[in-house]
Amino acid sequence: MSKLSTNPKDYELLVDSPGRINIIGEHTDYNNGFVLPTAIDKKIRFMFKKNGSDTVCNLYSANFDTSYTFSLEDVSPGDQQWANYILGVIHGVQQHTDKLRGFDCVLDSNIPVGSGISSSAALECGLGFGVNELFDCGLDRITITKIGQKAEHDYVGTKCGIMDQFASVMSKEGNVILLDCQSLEYKYVPIHIKPYKILLLNTNVSHNLADGEYNKRRAQCESGVAIIQSKYSNVNSLRDVSPEMLAEFKNEMDDVVYNRCSYVVDEKVRVLDTVEALNNNDLARMGKNMYKTHEGLSKLYEVSCPELDFLVEFSKGYNEVIGSRVMGGGFGGCTINIIHEDAVEKFTKEAEKAYFEKFNIKLTAFEANPSEGTSIVK
Ligand code: GLA
Repeated sequence: MSKLSTNPKDYELLVDSPGRINIIGEHTDYNNGFVLPTAIDKKIRFMFKKNGSDTVCNLYSANFDTSYTFSLEDVSPGDQQWANYILGVIHGVQQHTDKLRGFDCVLDSNIPVGSGISSSAALECGLGFGVNELFDCGLDRITITKIGQKAEHDYVGTKCGIMDQFASVMSKEGNVILLDCQSLEYKYVPIHIKPYKILLLNTNVSHNLADGEYNKRRAQCESGVAIIQSKYSNVNSLRDVSPEMLAEFKNEMDDVVYNRCSYVVDEKVRVLDTVEALNNNDLARMGKNMYKTHEGLSKLYEVSCPELDFLVEFSKGYNEVIGSRVMGGGFGGCTINIIHEDAVEKFTKEAEKAYFEKFNIKLTAFEANPSEGTSIVK
């Protein structure tokens, strides 16, 4: 196949599919808890057109200068990771409709991969959203988020929650989403934090959630729930467990499992407290909660790494940074920092220098602005 055109004029549909941040509520989604994410102004742009074929689909990733062709008649997973995201989504859409036909699609991304801002959900959901539009399949946005999540479970092997896909598709500019991952009820919470900004520091230590640690955390939480159920049969997930209830099982649970559960149970309380803080414009309280979350993710949930811990510690030397923590799945990626706008430049420069001296790795800093979810450009 010759390379697809990268000229937007040659395409009938352009879709922007964003990455996401999460203010607080980490590793709570698959425990049926609450999260507080939003889409940001980093995105994958997709260009689509029907190509007249019944079954042949051609893709081209401009970032990786890679082409990929598959048939709608064979969407079983293969050994190319990024292609599996695509195949998984197409398979998911095919479970709802027989309207899909051959298409050409070019994608171009400015979301750093493996940095905890969910380039994978942006890929899954942008594709799902795009083919849904192109072939008029009639799927709603929530269905598209679920198709994305299932693709990640079944085709990539990460048993992720729904947060990333939901944030990418459902966000509203200037807001974060308080999402109840049990009922999928959600509420937009305005995020007016001026003169503060959201600054992401990318460790450039890449994570790969499929390497098993993420799924292991999920399994450990489930094994904790099974023990709690021996006494409380109405408990379905850690969502239903209070810190006091959990404490009753301290001697019955393996220490590691207890610590995992303890982090999740406390994090639920912190998310709701942070929403109240945002509603009362109490940014200091929000920031304190973020630091506590980092502590829990590092010591109890053990999904941090020396590079992330270093950056969070480093931020504590600056009064202008009111909150900092590892964001997303962990094991690398970004810290999210709430920082006074006047200090961004100085803090960034000094963090870059200290980080390089310590790890010999270049730090990448960028501001993140709460933005609209998946949208049609043309
Ligand atoms: C990854 C997953 C999400 C969520 C976060 C941790 O981003 O895809 O579902 O579990 O980690 O909060």
